[in-house]
Amino acid sequence: MNYEERLENVSVLGAAGKMGSGILLLTAVEMADLSLQRGNKDKTFVLNAIDVSKEGLAGLMRYLREQVRKVAEKKAVQLKKTYADRDDLIENEDIISQYIFDVMNIIRPSTRMEVAYGSTLIFEAVSENKDLKVKLLSGIDGNSPEKPWYFTNTSSVPIHIIDEEAGLDGRILGFHFYNPPAVQKLVELIVTNDTKTEVREFALDYAKKLRKVVVPSFDFAGFIGNGHFMRDALHAIQTAEDLTKEMPYVEAVYCVNKIAQDYLVRPMGIFQLIDYVGIDVVKFIMKVMNPYLEDEDLHSDLLDTLMEQGVKGGQYSSGAQKDGFLKYEKGKPVGIYDPEKKDYVPISDFSEVADQRLGEIPASAVSWRTMLRNKDKDTVLAAFFNDLKTSGALGAKLAVEYGRRSKEIGRKLVADKVAHNENDVNTVMLTGFFHAYGPINEFFD
Ligand code: CAA
Repeated sequence: MNYEERLENVSVLGAAGKMGSGILLLTAVEMADLSLQRGNKDKTFVLNAIDVSKEGLAGLMRYLREQVRKVAEKKAVQLKKTYADRDDLIENEDIISQYIFDVMNIIRPSTRMEVAYGSTLIFEAVSENKDLKVKLLSGIDGNSPEKPWYFTNTSSVPIHIIDEEAGLDGRILGFHFYNPPAVQKLVELIVTNDTKTEVREFALDYAKKLRKVVVPSFDFAGFIGNGHFMRDALHAIQTAEDLTKEMPYVEAVYCVNKIAQDYLVRPMGIFQLIDYVGIDVVKFIMKVMNPYLEDEDLHSDLLDTLMEQGVKGGQYSSGAQKDGFLKYEKGKPVGIYDPEKKDYVPISDFSEVADQRLGEIPASAVSWRTMLRNKDKDTVLAAFFNDLKTSGALGAKLAVEYGRRSKEIGRKLVADKVAHNENDVNTVMLTGFFHAYGPINEFFD
């Protein structure tokens, strides 16, 4: 079976989730592009979008339509060539509408798992629960005449365990996208000792067609990305908890969030990122990773408390951010949740006082957005971080500690044989978390 044949009948499990919807979008576009190639006009390409939630699937179709329009607009010139033999498509809008139709036409939303039995490739993006993943994959495999290949998007469960428990004979690998899959360039690729060579080769071809950056990770729970993210998040929580000795809790959370974003030049503050991924998801990932760690317990009582109080973060099917550590209006943080009051405190009530506590940020400060396309960013960032080291202000001191911890976490991932090398750790943070610089750097010695 060649590349195209493998992609003629595909299923995505958990298609309405935020990772599933992105995987579905990228795969639908790739499959539609194949279907529009001259030699493939008589073939039928089918992409099953499977999810337990009917409402989620309806939201998914809306999301896809909007996103495919954006894709079509970006490749308008290419599409003109694709539809060159269609005299009825005259205006740009005609071509875009036709492309949206052709992409949407291959997608079959369904709440029934049985539709996956005819697929040759299955993307699994259900919730981070090993037993559920094993149950679904073994259920499909036992009923499928196709002996499909499985690409799991698990962010923490070792792949060999899913393979062994579901009895997949090496027809599985970890193909871990980052959120949002349509934007983040990274795919973490995890093969086991048993993963078949042809499955891995296909994965590399497919990633290349999607223009993804592939970083191999060893098959260790959490892999590289979450190996860094979970520890980075726990450092932030610990720092905020320590700060409550000198300031109220909501100010402490505000300060640490601001340090991660403005002082460490990241796209989001760390508490905003935890909300974006979902407090529940972060907690599950830590729980999955823990049994594999000998000398560490990745756990936070604060996350437990928030969960108990129903504060979970994550996103609505529209893509809008749900409240978590922070409260959001039009996607912007406007409040901080106080577990004692069981309510949000407006940021405007205390930001001035909290900013004074952090002290002046050096004039050399730069924003994440301006760094992305700055050819001189290493020099600019070095100047800013050096100013932080000599500043003496609380915010600067905490930022330097945070940068050093992030570097230590990165190095440990190599020492623990989770990552092959330091460059891979940096690439994961640059392309999966959209950081402007890698954690293992000269800035934070
Ligand atoms: N689907 C498709 N496109 C999306 C999108 C989505 N869900 N969300 C954002 N975009 C697009 C926007 O439409 C916009 O596109 P254009 O430039 O073409 O207009 C582009 O992304 C930038 O978005 P915005 O202008 O709205 O905002 P931004 O520049 O601040 O970027 C962000 C938003 C890409 C989310 C950025 O803030 C970011 O990268 N944040 C960090 C997210 C992160 O760390 N993700 C990894 C989480 S960990 C994980 O995923 C692994 C795990 O296992 C837990």
